[in-house]
Amino acid sequence: SMMLSARSSTAQSDQATGIQNQRPPSDFPSGFLWGTATSAYQVEGAVNEDGRGPSIWDRFAHTPGTISDRSNGDTATDHYRLYKQDIQLMKSLGVKAYRFSIAWPRVFPEGTGSANPKGLDFYSRLVDELSANGIEPFATLYHWDLPQALQDRFGGWTSRDTSKAFADYAAHVTARLSDRVKHFFTINECSRLVHLGHGLGADAPGLKLPQSGLNQVRHHVALGHGLAVQAIRAHGRAGTRVGPAENAVSCIPAIETPANIRAAEIATRELNAGYLTVMLEGKYTDAYLARAGNDAPKFTADDLRVISSPIDFVGLNVYTPDHYVVAADNERGFTLAPFPASFPHMKASWLRPGPEAIYWVPRHVAKLWNVKSIYITENGTSGSDQPAADGTIYDVDRIMYLRNYLTQLQRATSEGVPVLGYFLWSLMDNFEWSDGYEQRFGIYHVDFDSKRRTPKLSAAFYRETIARNAVA
Ligand code: NOJ
Repeated sequence: SMMLSARSSTAQSDQATGIQNQRPPSDFPSGFLWGTATSAYQVEGAVNEDGRGPSIWDRFAHTPGTISDRSNGDTATDHYRLYKQDIQLMKSLGVKAYRFSIAWPRVFPEGTGSANPKGLDFYSRLVDELSANGIEPFATLYHWDLPQALQDRFGGWTSRDTSKAFADYAAHVTARLSDRVKHFFTINECSRLVHLGHGLGADAPGLKLPQSGLNQVRHHVALGHGLAVQAIRAHGRAGTRVGPAENAVSCIPAIETPANIRAAEIATRELNAGYLTVMLEGKYTDAYLARAGNDAPKFTADDLRVISSPIDFVGLNVYTPDHYVVAADNERGFTLAPFPASFPHMKASWLRPGPEAIYWVPRHVAKLWNVKSIYITENGTSGSDQPAADGTIYDVDRIMYLRNYLTQLQRATSEGVPVLGYFLWSLMDNFEWSDGYEQRFGIYHVDFDSKRRTPKLSAAFYRETIARNAVA
């Protein structure tokens, strides 16, 4: 049942009815980069291997009451040992690119100071194995696993010392990998690490700072991004490219009128003021500073210059519409529609399927800031993923989700929105942060006891989509 028939080059129609047997192709641009994504702490395991130091996620996950199923990333999917096998999974899907993250505490166990060469060796082997299999590496430098030593020494991101340490680490990695890795992402989802990590306390390091502290953390994270961009430019070989991988607050025009579209653009700019807006404009918006009032972050003009260092592309993690927007004659120029209780969601209650998000977010980013290169750095969904009687996981909810999002992404590329590639989250089930192993996002199922990987039906869907370069 997992075998796929080859695509016929032209759509054939049924003789009697004239209805086409296969949808007419709506191709993605040629050379569109199909990929899969993971992150270090979520897949690697091997937390005590080869000199790795502890990260804030080790500490957090081992603190009682933090993870819903009381699990942690100690072994995760064991990707650290099984990476060659995982690369073969990617190869069998036909993916052209792999987005992974580098664990800072493997490279600098103490956060700063002397490097642990064995740490970077793992990524060097990974990159070589990818290249040998024709898969392009895209490396994220920070996917939330801050060395615990930096949290202990100066309070992690509450201090700008962390922003500087991040740039030093980025320089070290780029100097050693940019002969083979051409694309680097600085920080994954600044907004989640700020809000969930330092405001709600639901992610590591589990802080619940007051608004002023939270605003300062946000500033230090943005500064870390900017300093890392500069370090990567200074230490990368010619042709090294860099950008953020942000989960922009997604604002969808509730109805596609010019006024609502404009309102959704304004909302996008304002609701991302501490993230993409300051990175791309080099200033905090007036409304952002006015709303923050006395709690506004402390910063210098030079900070803003650093934060807005030129980037080569914008990476966007897109899962769900955050707001449906209606134009309004109020001070802000828009109204955010409240979500009715009847709005559907996937297995995770936060994940509402609104496929048009993957059309509008890149379109707004391209329009607002004249961005010429965009990657969808993550998109996907969790599911209950129960094997049927024949043992197959028929994850048709995930296929429904992916088909609808990819159809909207194809709309974007066909209208000239410059999206160059798409990384499906995730290659395989993994440690979903405070949801532990209870939210499975993979197109490969992982048995977390045996570490065995099994393709779900969505793996076949993705393989067929990649082969056609069109939604299957
Ligand atoms: C975004 C994060 O980058 C990733 O780590 C997480 O697993 C997915 N969202 C799903 O929640």
